Amino acid sequence: MNAIKETLMPLPPAGGDPGDGVATPLPHQRRKRYSGKNPRRFEDKYKELDATGHPETISKILAAGKTPAGTHRPIMVAEILQVLNPGAGELAVDCTLGYGGHAREIIPRIQPGGKLIGLDADPVELPKTEARLRALGFGPETFSAHRCNFAGIRKILAAGRIAGADLILADLGVSSMQLDNPLRGFSVKREGPLDMRMNPQRGLSAAALVQGLSPLKLERLLRENADEPHAGTLAAALAGHGFSNTLLLGDAIRRALPKSVSEEDRVRSIRRVFQALRIAVNEELVALDNFLRVLPGCVNPGGRIAILTFHSGEDRRVKKAFEAGLRDGLYADIAPDPIRPSPSEIYDNPRAKPAKLRWARRAL
Ligand SMILES: C[S@@+](CC[C@H](N)C(=O)[O-])C[C@H]1O[C@@H](n2cnc3c(N)ncnc32)[C@H](O)[C@@H]1O
Repeated sequence: MNAIKETLMPLPPAGGDPGDGVATPLPHQRRKRYSGKNPRRFEDKYKELDATGHPETISKILAAGKTPAGTHRPIMVAEILQVLNPGAGELAVDCTLGYGGHAREIIPRIQPGGKLIGLDADPVELPKTEARLRALGFGPETFSAHRCNFAGIRKILAAGRIAGADLILADLGVSSMQLDNPLRGFSVKREGPLDMRMNPQRGLSAAALVQGLSPLKLERLLRENADEPHAGTLAAALAGHGFSNTLLLGDAIRRALPKSVSEEDRVRSIRRVFQALRIAVNEELVALDNFLRVLPGCVNPGGRIAILTFHSGEDRRVKKAFEAGLRDGLYADIAPDPIRPSPSEIYDNPRAKPAKLRWARRAL
């Protein structure tokens, strides 16, 4: 075991008036205690969580193909910009604002005169992202943030007396900030309450969901949301039980699987169960279906839509909705096939691997 380390925080610049030569004494600050060379627990990663204050630490983490704690690396940015083709004066809606990675690229490209409306269901991260984008100089005339489900996009546009958007982006699923923060309960690796709600102020937590479901309903959910091959066995072992934290659920999944299952496949099953529960807790596929239904009515003639999906249940829905829109003459053109991230992006950011990008262009 590594010894517990306690080191002094690097000294900030001396205070006081530089002209008088007298530095105001600074309060003595001690670094948090953690075992090992680098902090392992999310809450101890203070350098990553204060990304702007520690650029060298952030560069090292990015170069290692990792995502600094409390941040999110936007996926397929170049490909999305190419299909959305933002231009001056256009109105953009980023339906999944997240960390604002795509938004910060789009906003300058629609100037002068353009505006991006950012939506996100997450009341914890949204104010931080809004503050970050404001600090980059994006004022209310170029960017607004709204906490809402993207299924309600039409209401948001109507409230702003906007007939339609010129570009619409949806980057589905959860952000790395949500995934990596143990308090949100999405992580299979970190102990936290079994919550998984993008909006913790609404709906049932994953723990309540598992406790309240019959084995049959849980089995269906595991199949439909994650194609889990051991759905029946796992549902019989988990349904009706109260799991107070993420690691307890992970252990129960591991123990319930047949002995013949390899360690690698056990980890895969744990990930799939977490994904299936997350999708159910947040009613992600219901929101996506409702969004895809109203989408053609939210885009101006000639407007562009880009949707980034991360599993087959999402991609299938987007593909079918775009094909139906093309048949009905609502869309003039759609992606013939999904666009995948480049090998170098996957190497740099393994979280990009499952991504599929589809686009549609509204008829004139
Ligand atoms: C993959 S992240 C987006 C990352 C973002 N593109 C960026 O570059 O930082 C997905 C975001 O969508 C939000 N989200 C997921 N489903 C949503 C829904 N139905 N309505 C609104 N926001 C949603 C999540 O809270 C999360 O912040």
